[in-house]
Amino acid sequence: MADLILGQVLSFSADPFEVGESAARHDRHGALLVADGKVQAVGTAEALRAAHPQAKVTDYGDALVMAGFVDAHVHYPQTAIIASWGKRLIDWLNSYTFPEEMRFADRAYADEISDRYLGLALAHGTTSLCSYCTIHPESVDALFTAAQARGMRVFAGKTCMDRNAPEGLRDTAQSAYDESKRLLQKWHGVDRLSYVITPRFSPTSTPEQLAAMGALWGEYPDCLMQTHLSEQTDEIAWVKELFPQSRDYLDTYEAQGLLREGAVYGHAIHLTAREKDRLKEAGASLVHCPTSNTFIGSGLFDMGLARQMRVGLATDTGGGSSFSMLHTMAAAYEVAQLRGQALHPSQLLWLATVGSARALRAEDRIGNLAPGMEADIVVIDLASTPAIEQATRRAETIWQAVFPTIMMGDDRAIQAVWVGGKVAGVRRRVRIHCAPCVTR
Ligand code: GUN
Ligand code: ZN
Repeated sequence: MADLILGQVLSFSADPFEVGESAARHDRHGALLVADGKVQAVGTAEALRAAHPQAKVTDYGDALVMAGFVDAHVHYPQTAIIASWGKRLIDWLNSYTFPEEMRFADRAYADEISDRYLGLALAHGTTSLCSYCTIHPESVDALFTAAQARGMRVFAGKTCMDRNAPEGLRDTAQSAYDESKRLLQKWHGVDRLSYVITPRFSPTSTPEQLAAMGALWGEYPDCLMQTHLSEQTDEIAWVKELFPQSRDYLDTYEAQGLLREGAVYGHAIHLTAREKDRLKEAGASLVHCPTSNTFIGSGLFDMGLARQMRVGLATDTGGGSSFSMLHTMAAAYEVAQLRGQALHPSQLLWLATVGSARALRAEDRIGNLAPGMEADIVVIDLASTPAIEQATRRAETIWQAVFPTIMMGDDRAIQAVWVGGKVAGVRRRVRIHCAPCVTR
């Protein structure tokens, strides 16, 4: 039976970085028709009710109904170490991240954290995500198994490192190639899962390992390849020492076949003019991780790049300090303000949905509400706390109504989540450890 979902429906017909807020379509009394896991129609409540009298109606009243958030760069194995105090990137990796990632050799622990992480993501309105795993193949099996049980569209890959990481967290060029290939063949294209070739970053991969990843990507060109690029200045100086022959950080990837469309670079803050030009020419994607970039003290991403190339938005759990894409949008707004740009709410919501989906080359399936799109939906209460409610009370436009939730909202604002056309959680019932928590 078809579902008819009523509320304030928001979708995009264009890019607000190009055309402004008119890129968004908002129906105060809107409706979505959902069947077979897909959006069948978007329109007014009146028109769709009349056209589909048999559909089962779920009325969310004044709540905002939009595409579920797409988190384009996370490290699910860092779930338990989120908000660890202090340190710069390399110290933070050595002190907190690597010891925690060691634990993922244990499949039972990987299962526990996968389940916990996906529960948290859904509770925060995130219906799709792109994750790094650890070097252990079990960590990939655990995440994909948990995502498959929930019917989520998830992108992920085994993180590869063959130097500058502790014993127990290193593979080799050959084993990274072999294990990545085996996992890719096992999972890529199964249900809603996509394998992503994942060298962690140049400091932890030899040129031989990067070349092996480039060769694998050449064999499976439709896969994404994700890595980190120019996050902190001391990291960039280290890359210069490790790769004296390279023109710049990007060149360490480019030289090994790791720069083209489908390359997804996290952070990308301190880019040279040559790097920006090459990234644009190659059609690569960048992912802005603002809560991480402030938390670890990395720097201020240039949002002007969103007019020139594919830019997504991400929490970077657990370098980022929140699982919430609302917090992430707030941080993106504040970072842009520090660079003299005021991002419009339509641009923030677009980045967290269409922008991230485009960065993952999945904008034809997720990140927007239109006929034929997969029915991953978030329902947002625009008065979820007394502070937000009093700020929105006098709103005269949808943007005035939504901005306090962007700036001050959290998981309390997430009233319901639909994944693949089914309710995957409703407020106060979204629980961690509840796979697959379907409540009707
Ligand atoms: N660079 C390489 N690995 C990581 C990581 O796990 N988190 C962040 N923020 N940056 C990285
Ligand atoms: Zn990262």
